[in-house]
Amino acid sequence: MTLVARKQLPLRPAGPDTVDALLAWYDAERRDLPWRAKGRRRADPYRVWLSEIMLQQTTVKAVIPFFQRFVARWPTVTELAAAPLDDVLAMWAGLGYYSRARNLHRCAVEVAARPDGKFPRSEAELLALPGIGPYTAAAIAAIAFGFPTTPVDGNIERVVSRLFAVTRPLPGAKREIKRLAATLTPAKRAGDHAQAMMDLGATVCTPRRPSCLMCPLQQDCHAWATGIAETLPRKGQRAERPVRFGMAFLVLREDGVVLLRKRPPAGLLGGMLEVPSTDWSDTLLPADMAMAGAPVRSDWWPVPGGIVHLFTHFRLELQVVRAIVPPETPLTFWAEPDRCVWIARRDLHKAALPSVMRKIIAHALKEQ
Ligand code: ADE
Ligand code: SF4
Repeated sequence: MTLVARKQLPLRPAGPDTVDALLAWYDAERRDLPWRAKGRRRADPYRVWLSEIMLQQTTVKAVIPFFQRFVARWPTVTELAAAPLDDVLAMWAGLGYYSRARNLHRCAVEVAARPDGKFPRSEAELLALPGIGPYTAAAIAAIAFGFPTTPVDGNIERVVSRLFAVTRPLPGAKREIKRLAATLTPAKRAGDHAQAMMDLGATVCTPRRPSCLMCPLQQDCHAWATGIAETLPRKGQRAERPVRFGMAFLVLREDGVVLLRKRPPAGLLGGMLEVPSTDWSDTLLPADMAMAGAPVRSDWWPVPGGIVHLFTHFRLELQVVRAIVPPETPLTFWAEPDRCVWIARRDLHKAALPSVMRKIIAHALKEQ
């Protein structure tokens, strides 16, 4: 074990000096991200909003190419509002949590319909828009409009829990962490402060092995002083994810098109395309019963292996079967023909296919 000399206790609580040290660090080390304005200028509210919605549940690295494609195609909120929802869903495919994309579009429509066609500035009005929760409203108000509000995401939660050595586990400690985070929010540069906390959490105060020796806040950090940084934030036990089972039917037509189906507009993966499958149920159906729900009559080839996909609330385990059929093959009642579409294999990359469906297709087509 390495012994490191630690600052003498008692520590002063994190306060204005901490904030100054953090802003100075941000000015020198901030990440250059496509939604950030250069220097001290305020960022475009549209870009801040779009990036914040994309960054919920997704990493900065994964978001950057999506963000760039979106703003290249729809440079303003008005243009996004005028786009068909299906185009937005197709561009979103791969980012996950598709209700975000539907709310994104609804929100753009509401903003474009305002008298000035611009985002409202206050946290309360932002909060009233579709898809904007307390975190996002505070982030936009601070980053785009400079209001001294305090967004608290997972990164900030971690940094704050360590700075103040909050040992109570999450989620119970959320309110206390939020209150402590707010004590640090400066009257000026609140947006830079919030983003500095995010950058610190992403690059220095990382979940495992934080780089405390290089941290601008080390002097003020109670977790560092007591040697418990890496154990924070504490987490209560999480319930195990339930498992759901199903069978997916990949139909490939001899002329190179694949059978897909549009999911109903509401609910999980709403409005996105899917590979037709049985219902996803708590019990594993015997293969012959599952096969009775096939979308075409054909010889089905069971693709060895199956796929597993983790959703927030369950784990999905699918068997995959494949059929290659002639062009005039009729669909069965179970296919729900009204919702079905045939898409050419070469066009699949631009279809509104969520990751789980891409996994199924790749799996089904890999050996042939
Ligand atoms: N995560 C969420 N919002 C962010 C932002 N504005 N900058 C960096 N990481 C973020
Ligand atoms: Fe995080 Fe360590 Fe910095 Fe404390 S000193 S804020 S634990 S990186």
